[in-house]
Amino acid sequence: MQVTKNGRKKYLVFMVQVHTNFRRAELESLADLYGINSIDFSKYDDSTPFFYVELENDQQAKDWIKRSILTRAIYEYWGDADTYEELHESIQSQDFFQKNKELYHNDTFKFEFDTYRGNNKSNRIKQIEKFSYLDFKGKINLKNPQQVFTVIEEYKPISENIPGKDPIHLIFGRLIQTGDRLSMDRYDLKKRPYKGTTSFEAELSLVSANIAQVKPGTIMYDPFAGTGSFLTAGGHYGALVIGSDIDGRMIRGKGASANINTNFKFYGESSKFLDVLTMDFTHNSLRSNLVIDTILCDPPYGIRESIKVLGARDPERFAGKENIEIDGKKAFLHRDYIPTKKPYALDSLLDDILQYASERLPINGRLAFWMPTANDENIETIIPLHANLELKYNCVQEFNKWSRRLLVYINRGPTFDGPTNSGAKRSTTVFRDRYFNHFN
Ligand SMILES: C[S@@+](CC[C@H](N)C(=O)[O-])C[C@H]1O[C@@H](n2cnc3c(N)ncnc32)[C@H](O)[C@@H]1O
Repeated sequence: MQVTKNGRKKYLVFMVQVHTNFRRAELESLADLYGINSIDFSKYDDSTPFFYVELENDQQAKDWIKRSILTRAIYEYWGDADTYEELHESIQSQDFFQKNKELYHNDTFKFEFDTYRGNNKSNRIKQIEKFSYLDFKGKINLKNPQQVFTVIEEYKPISENIPGKDPIHLIFGRLIQTGDRLSMDRYDLKKRPYKGTTSFEAELSLVSANIAQVKPGTIMYDPFAGTGSFLTAGGHYGALVIGSDIDGRMIRGKGASANINTNFKFYGESSKFLDVLTMDFTHNSLRSNLVIDTILCDPPYGIRESIKVLGARDPERFAGKENIEIDGKKAFLHRDYIPTKKPYALDSLLDDILQYASERLPINGRLAFWMPTANDENIETIIPLHANLELKYNCVQEFNKWSRRLLVYINRGPTFDGPTNSGAKRSTTVFRDRYFNHFN
């Protein structure tokens, strides 16, 4: 093992080179969640998938990375160089080399190769044989080895479509922990029993849950649950989830075989599903002493669903209608009563979410939600702010003419006294209109 002067070991985090705007936020949030506060992020770089860190021990590395969606794996560092010849020299010249050899001397093991921006057709067996100086005496076990030793080959592509032929850099390490990328396949929308046009893709909903620090055994609430994509992600990370939506059709789903609950059964996570209810978020009926640890959502922006709240668009015309009775019972008390709704401004709805989070989240609890914006160069995007909430992350996912961002806030309480723009008109145009006009 490599022990640095401060008693810590060197590790390599090998990340995916996608959603780079979200990677650091995910790594920082998971480190914070597990109380690992000694990681030096000053060397973190969005332009490379490699991030070298020092940690106290393997357990810290495991805790930190096991939930990460944007990390392929974390390795104990053994050496690196630009050619294979130099790599072998690098490994043998490390002051921890002898100790490492002894530690894993009798363990079952296997070798793996991973590549970045290229592919290699060389004879891997011959390459592995060149590591014979490691002198491992344990048996090779391809299925369930105690140790996995990995060579990561980095290439420089010849052009955008032609991968490089020879590696430009090599890193050798012992696998400590893979990230949670397999869950992207497990929660893939294509395989999900209940989904709809508003369903949020698996990868970024899981990343959102990580950045929101959804924790096992705590309560997570999605006030705009729709088909329950974020509830599913929260359940995966062990939270007990509650959702609500103004549209009862979303909550009821497509009958007994396809609804949010059946998704939880499908994933074998029914015990994480508390319930969902039809409710206007702005007329919230969750009791005020219910502890909500995390709020994670994708509010309506009027693209596939409208922004509506309970109420009459024209209160004068509606006056007195609340007294109408059917079969001797007030109309609105019947089970199949559909209440009137009126349009609502996005700015007001976002103000409401921030206010609700400030009142309902515990101190240091997180609110995370998605907000779309048009990519006009000359229009500043104004992020909603609340005096009690610290805006921790603003991670942007760019599309062609628009983008959406994950805004993450931490409830710091009334003493925080941060900047606020509550009540201000922040959006200059209605996103829905711009979207359907192709942002012209
Ligand atoms: C962008 S969608 C969320 C989709 C959801 N993440 C999913 O997985 O399907 C926004 C949702 O907010 C709901 N909604 C609109 N106005 C609402 C309100 N005032 N209160 C609660 N839900 C509302 C819509 O019915 C819609 O399902």
